[in-house]
Amino acid sequence: MNTAFFPLTPILHPWVNHLTKEPKELFERIEQYGSPVNIHHFKPLNENIHAYQTVLNKYNVIHKIFFARKANKCLQLAQAVADAGQGVDTASFRELQQCLDAGIASEQLVLTAAVKNRQLFELALKHNVTVVLDNEDELELAQDVAAMFGKTLLINIRVGGFHVNGQRLPTRFGFAIDSVAERIEGLAEIYPHLKYNGLHFHLNGYSIDERIAAIEQSVQVIDALYDLGIHTRSLDIGGGILMNYLKSHQEWLSFHTALREAVLGNRPELTYQNDALGMVKIEDKLYGEPTVYPYFNDIHKEKLLEHILTAHSNIYGLPIHRLFTDRRLELRMEPGRSLLDQVGCTLAKVAFRKKDSEGRLLVGLEMNRTQLRSSSADFLLDPLHLPKQQVDDSDEPCYAYLVGSYCLEQELILKRQIKLQKYPEIGDLILFPNTAGYMMHFYESEAHLFELAKNVFI
Ligand SMILES: Cc1ncc(COP(=O)(O)O)c(C=O)c1O
Repeated sequence: MNTAFFPLTPILHPWVNHLTKEPKELFERIEQYGSPVNIHHFKPLNENIHAYQTVLNKYNVIHKIFFARKANKCLQLAQAVADAGQGVDTASFRELQQCLDAGIASEQLVLTAAVKNRQLFELALKHNVTVVLDNEDELELAQDVAAMFGKTLLINIRVGGFHVNGQRLPTRFGFAIDSVAERIEGLAEIYPHLKYNGLHFHLNGYSIDERIAAIEQSVQVIDALYDLGIHTRSLDIGGGILMNYLKSHQEWLSFHTALREAVLGNRPELTYQNDALGMVKIEDKLYGEPTVYPYFNDIHKEKLLEHILTAHSNIYGLPIHRLFTDRRLELRMEPGRSLLDQVGCTLAKVAFRKKDSEGRLLVGLEMNRTQLRSSSADFLLDPLHLPKQQVDDSDEPCYAYLVGSYCLEQELILKRQIKLQKYPEIGDLILFPNTAGYMMHFYESEAHLFELAKNVFI
């Protein structure tokens, strides 16, 4: 037993289990499409949509789920969400244009791009797509464009700076929640070509309490506007709903304990050159937490949404869902990652085996680290090793680091040491599960002129 290995067993959807049990098709696909290849399946996407809808319907909340397509570039996923009667949150000209070209109806689209130029406003205006506005300059440009075409642009106003436990949540986005009611009150006069429809927020992080506070404070604004005779149709609560990648909470805890011990030098390294995954070691002390996504979560996806909806609002003395139903206020949400739970995996081919100067086994894959990357310091799920030759009783597991094709010392696909079923052969496959949300596309680059990975659907 290698004491440096602490498993992080991923949850696998039946479609992935099926493929890996009979991997012949995977070996064929990698020959056909090259390595790596991103493989997707629509079934979990529809299951995830359904799970959110079931909760929203249980509390009679009028709703629309806008899939944040920035989490994955494949248009087919946006199309599938639209076919399921929900919407798509677009964050750039091309994201919006592609959706329009695919025939997705304007009511099923929203534009939340962080930077919007004239061309983007024109596109949204032409197709009557609601635009979420973030600042004064956007209000002015939106009015200018709409006036030029003699049309009305539908807008939602992004808000931020909510108060939670006596502190303001810092953000670079949106209008300040404290003064936005006055701003919206004066809107019609100054910007007659803009039609206010709703409020929008998206919070950094995953806190349930912060989302509850943000909903309460937004509804206070909505009520103040109502008293001024201004109707609000929808409140968009953005994304950031946690998902769960891992089977075992205990494994998750043990890994963290062992990582700390390893970084402090009390056990063999778990990560390449004892990478602390974002913690800082000063003398014999470790500071901070690993800067990784919380890959294990008991309360996630629809359960987390239900927690929010059933939480008690201290301001209103009612459960949160009543804040929506009592006002016939449409709840909009923009899940990206969580809607893609189990939707895709990334498959790569083993190119070489070697040892580094310190004797660590390195397995070279035909892929680069931008093809499996998010803002998290590491993707903390065990990949699956699919050997070309069947494993037999004489085979022993082996432990290795996966490295990629960019010419950097730090070109590790995973920083964590992983377990392989046996000593790998050239041409074996490594499957990274559950990568559709951000992991496969968000940071992918074409450095060295490598081609981007192909995306295929089952
Ligand atoms: C405005 C907005 N909506 C939705 C999302 C999607 O968030 P997530 O993928 O965490 O659900 C993001 C992510 O950055 C965002 O900026």
